[in-house]
Amino acid sequence: MRATRVRPSGIERTFGDHEMIVTKTDPRGVITYANDVFLRVSAIPEHEAVGHPHNVIRHPDMPRAVFKLLWDTLEEQKEIFAYVVNLAADGAHYWVLAHVTPSYDAGGLSLIQISEV
Ligand SMILES: Cc1cc2nc3c(=O)[nH]c(=O)nc-3n(C[C@H](O)[C@H](O)[C@H](O)COP(=O)(O)O)c2cc1C
Repeated sequence: MRATRVRPSGIERTFGDHEMIVTKTDPRGVITYANDVFLRVSAIPEHEAVGHPHNVIRHPDMPRAVFKLLWDTLEEQKEIFAYVVNLAADGAHYWVLAHVTPSYDAGGLSLIQISEV
């Protein structure tokens, strides 16, 4: 995890309609894979993403209850869709529609995020 949390700058970042953010984590939410769109939009170098908890991009405005629902749902082996605002390493924020799902074969968790509609 980053030593100091970045302060939100209030600047919104968007990404293309044709693009998808994809990450995978282990069962505890530690990132095991991040695609190039994630790395660009979050402004996090790959070595600071892979091996680090997914809350590295947690935005302080996101209600804690959303993540409780996310983890409770995943524990039931179900998928969840949620609108999430994330905080990039440079202080920008970006909205996504997140689809988080257990990956039944490998035991990990997967995330696909598309841009806000
Ligand atoms: C596959 C996967 C993807 C996740 N994606 C995000 C995300 O994009 N943004 C986020 O804030 N939390 C995401 N989380 C939830 C985090 O693991 C964490 O629960 C959340 O950021 C709250 O952090 P906290 O428990 O330290 O407060 C994801 C979790 C999983 C398993």
